[in-house]
Amino acid sequence: MIQIDLSHIQCFLPLPYEAALSPRLRIGHGRLQKGDGIGGEFTGWVHLPTDYDREEFSRIKKAAGKIQSDSQALVVIGIGGSYLGARGVIECLCSPNYNLKKKDTPNIYFVGNGLSSEQLSETMALLDGVDFSVNVISKSGTTTEPAVAFRFFRRLLEEKYGKDEAAKRIYATTDRERGALKALADENGYETFVVPDDIGGRYSVLTAVGLLPIAVAGIDIDELMSGAAAMQEACRADDMAANPAWQYAAARYELYRSGKRIEILAAYEPSFRFMAEWWKQLYGESEGKENKGLFPASVEFTADLHSMGQYIQQGERHIFETVVRFGASADENPVPFDPSDGDGLNFLAGKSMDYIAAQAMDGTLLAHVEGGVPNIILRAGRKNAFTLGEMIYFFEYACGLSGYLLDVNPFDQPGVEAYKKNMFALLGKPGYEELRSQLLAKLGR
Ligand code: PA5
Repeated sequence: MIQIDLSHIQCFLPLPYEAALSPRLRIGHGRLQKGDGIGGEFTGWVHLPTDYDREEFSRIKKAAGKIQSDSQALVVIGIGGSYLGARGVIECLCSPNYNLKKKDTPNIYFVGNGLSSEQLSETMALLDGVDFSVNVISKSGTTTEPAVAFRFFRRLLEEKYGKDEAAKRIYATTDRERGALKALADENGYETFVVPDDIGGRYSVLTAVGLLPIAVAGIDIDELMSGAAAMQEACRADDMAANPAWQYAAARYELYRSGKRIEILAAYEPSFRFMAEWWKQLYGESEGKENKGLFPASVEFTADLHSMGQYIQQGERHIFETVVRFGASADENPVPFDPSDGDGLNFLAGKSMDYIAAQAMDGTLLAHVEGGVPNIILRAGRKNAFTLGEMIYFFEYACGLSGYLLDVNPFDQPGVEAYKKNMFALLGKPGYEELRSQLLAKLGR
C-alpha cells in the first residue's frame, strides 16, 4: 500500500494543520462517497473498482485477445483523459520503448492527441504493410483532434481491408448514447465500449477508455482493478491517520496556503513520464479554475537534476515536490568491477543500480529541503499493475478532495472550451460566423 512520508514538509508547516483540516476533509469525503457535492454527477469513478460492468470487462478482454491475434499494431486515437492514462500505464509497466521491444503483443501508436501533420504521416507510414486495428476513444464523440485523426485511419483501414473487414477492426469507446462517434459506430457496426455518464475523461482510465489499450499491451487488468479496489477501501476511511488520500490532499493544500504555487511530481523512473502527464491533467483540469489551484509540473530524475535541478535548488521559493519512490526493481544490475579502475568507480563495484539511485534520492531530498523545497514522499510498492491501480485511485481520490478543499468543482473544465470555440470559428464551422468576424478583426485579417 502506498505510504506517505510527510516528515520533510514539517519544518515548513510549523503549525499542526491536520486537526484543523479534518472537518473540511470529512465533508468533502462524504460528498465524494455519496456523490452529492458540486459536480457529484461525475463521481462514478469513486466506487468503480468494486462496482464495474463485469460483462463489459469480459468483452474488453475478448477484444484485446482478438486484436492481439489479428493485429501487429493498435492505433489508439484520443486526447486528454481519453489517452493519457492508458499511455501512462503502458509506458510505466511495459517501457517507453514498448514498440521497439521483441514481444508477442501489438505495437501501440497514440494519435489524435494533437494536430501535427508530421505525426500523422509518420504513424501512417509506420503502418505500411502492417495488420492493424483502431481504438477510437472520445466521450463526447465530437472532439476535433481525435475526430480528424479517425477520418485518416478509418480510410486507411477501409482501403486496406474493405469497409466490412475494416469495421471489424474498429473499436469505439464513447458515450452510451450520444455523440457523432456513437452514431458512426452504430451505423457501421463497430464494437463499442462505454464511457459511463458519471465519469469524466480524466477520471476514466479504469473504464474501457484505459483498459482496452492496456489489456492489448498484455497488462493484467484484473490486477490493476484489484490494486484500485484495495486503495478504494483505504480511501473509505473517515480519518486522517488511516486515509492516505486525506494526508496527501491536506499536505498539498496547506503548502498552497503557505504560499507554494507549484507542485512538481518527481520520479526516478523514466517510464513514469506519462503517468506524470496523466497526473498533470488530472490536477490541472480539476483544480485550476476561479483563479485558484496549484500549477502541476513534473520532472524525471536524475536526468532533470541536470536541467531543472538548479531552479529547484535555488530559484523562486514557490515550489514543493511530491516524489514517487517505487520498491526494488526486478533487475539488480550490479556495477561491474574494472581491474584498471580508470574511471575511479570501483568504490561502486558490486553495488546495484537501485542502491545508487537510493543514495541519489536521499541526497537530492536533503539538498532540496535544505534549499527551501518541501518534499512529500510517496512510497509505492514494486512497479506492477497492482501498484499502479492503487496509485491511480489514490491520486484520483486526493484530487477530488483537493478540489473540494479549494471550493471548486473538480469535475468540470469550462476553460478548455475557450480555445475550442475560437478554433471552430477560425476554421469556419457553421454556427460560429459572428465570432469568426470578431476574431479575424482582432487578428487583423
Ligand atoms: O478530462 C476531460 O474531460 C478532458 O480532458 C477530455 O478527456 C478530453 O478533452 C477529451 O474529450 P473527449 O473524450 O470527449 O474527446
